[in-house]
Amino acid sequence: LWLLGLVGLAAYALGSIPFGVVIARVMGLGDLRAVGSGNIGATNVMRTGNKAAGVATFALDAAKGAIAALLAGWLIGPDAAQTAALAAFIGHLYPVYIGFKGGKGVATFIGITLALVWPVGLATCATWVVTFKASRYSSLAGLTACGMSSIYAGVMGYLPVVVVLVVAKLLVFYKHRENIKRLWNRTEPRFKKKAR
Ligand code: G3P
Repeated sequence: LWLLGLVGLAAYALGSIPFGVVIARVMGLGDLRAVGSGNIGATNVMRTGNKAAGVATFALDAAKGAIAALLAGWLIGPDAAQTAALAAFIGHLYPVYIGFKGGKGVATFIGITLALVWPVGLATCATWVVTFKASRYSSLAGLTACGMSSIYAGVMGYLPVVVVLVVAKLLVFYKHRENIKRLWNRTEPRFKKKAR
């Protein structure tokens, strides 16, 4: 049990790295928390207009969750992978380095899902893309994708990961409570359609 605790702590420390904040600062885009929604995720980095920075933020926030889960899985086993996945995810939501004011979890959720059960991860990504294309709301896409993920895991028969995905999804919903209110009131900001 102490080993799982250690794994959790290390994964939490890794998940706490706020890549959006770091990338925005390094690329000279200013303080991300003063931009758009003030959130530290890839969606808000996109609002700076720097697409590469947004993509990099998504990739790194997803990668930290995936790496934590994969490393723990290889070194120790499936229980450790799930512990690390959840701990890294919680690190992203409540990062120790920036006063526990973290992100909303969608990118890291996708990262841990891909690492734990890649078919569920792919289905989750596909759900994000389809919902985003149809609605142009990043928040709605994230909520739908994360919301469906544990259902995909159940239907595909990956029962051991369902609990982790349900806990993570509830946290994603909790972190999006303001977005959910705005979606309900139709005041949530939409991304513009791509000019073709
Ligand atoms: O992944 C975050 C997204 O779902 C919402 O972010 O900045 O629009 O509140 P934001």
